[in-house]
Amino acid sequence: MKKDTKVVRAGHDKVRNAGIVNTPVYHASTIVFDSVAAMNDADERGFKRGENVMYYGRRGTPTHWTLQEAITDLAGGAGTVLAPSGLGACVLAIMGCVKAGDHILMTDSVYGPTRSFCSGFLKGFGVETTYYDPLIGADISNLMKPNTTLVFCESPGTHTFEVQDLPAIATAAHAGGAKVAVDNTWASPWFCQPIALGADISIEAATKYIVGHSDANMGTVTCTAETLSGVQRAYGALGLAVGVDDVYLATRGLRTLSVRLRQHQDNALKVAAWLKAQPNVKRVLYPPLPDDPGHDLWKRDFSGGSGLFSVVFDQASTEAATALIDGMELFTIGYSWGGFESLIVPSAPSGARSATKWAEPEPGIRLHVGLEDPDDLIADLDRGLARFRKTLG
Ligand SMILES: Cc1ncc(COP(=O)(O)O)c(C=O)c1O
Repeated sequence: MKKDTKVVRAGHDKVRNAGIVNTPVYHASTIVFDSVAAMNDADERGFKRGENVMYYGRRGTPTHWTLQEAITDLAGGAGTVLAPSGLGACVLAIMGCVKAGDHILMTDSVYGPTRSFCSGFLKGFGVETTYYDPLIGADISNLMKPNTTLVFCESPGTHTFEVQDLPAIATAAHAGGAKVAVDNTWASPWFCQPIALGADISIEAATKYIVGHSDANMGTVTCTAETLSGVQRAYGALGLAVGVDDVYLATRGLRTLSVRLRQHQDNALKVAAWLKAQPNVKRVLYPPLPDDPGHDLWKRDFSGGSGLFSVVFDQASTEAATALIDGMELFTIGYSWGGFESLIVPSAPSGARSATKWAEPEPGIRLHVGLEDPDDLIADLDRGLARFRKTLG
């Protein structure tokens, strides 16, 4: 099946759904059985053999299975574990690959809370993390230690947008005996499949483009056969349960992922190209732009670009950036991204780096370009840049 078909049909099981197009929401904790033997059989088949069998709500229902199977199909792995948030998915992927005494290599461009989990919480459990230059490529081999069990990537980083050479990193990591996990949220499984590029685990903050409507948090961890049981074990041990109403929203969002992302890309390209030509704009960090430093790798490994990028100004002025942001009409102020609407936040990534220096003037802005008419978005930004210039004086 081609990607467009998978987005619409994957995970749909006519018999399981009793003919209903969208898998119904199965609210369930207790599942009742006719006998002890039937209960034990369900346990054996579900827990030990990994079959989709109703046993207890926390272990999954048809609502969960539909989304899990659809994401696995799109991302190209052996199975998918759901998480209650994107951060939860990053944590699950890490917990599935490490134990006390292990060492993680983590990209310096990683999402802040994933960094905090490793540097703070996980450190207390005897796991060490070293941060590396996102552009390191095959030279990651120089940082590998005998106890390095995981190399964590995020490509592109969602404030600074460096595109990582995933095949080169995966080859070097595997040679040193480590697994590779990639936070693939910017591209979604629609525009990039990290497992096909050599990764072992592909993570999505489904909160963004998969849910797509800014109304639920959700994460997915798609694994190769070798990494699946570790992540499943972490899910069970941590006592996680992903609410079925949110899973329903994620599955419904998924069905329109392809058409939404095409429009996000068209709009973002138009807005980014316009911004690049404006006075006071030093750089637009968007790999689909032909002169972006990550463009060649992006072209090789991705089939498109989403709606998220950052803008670096030629001068560092908190007052001017704030005047721009505060007066926006269509780009509303708020965290997260991937919904249908345009968003704006200030961006000052230098404080969250430890292996590399981010030396651009700060703050810049990070934009999520939504599905509004791009001409209206450009007019909003035009007025914002006028406020920026007026405040600079
Ligand atoms: C790249 C990336 N990964 C993970 C997350 C976490 O997702 P959630 O907010 O659902 O925990 C985010 C959220 O902004 C993100 O940008």
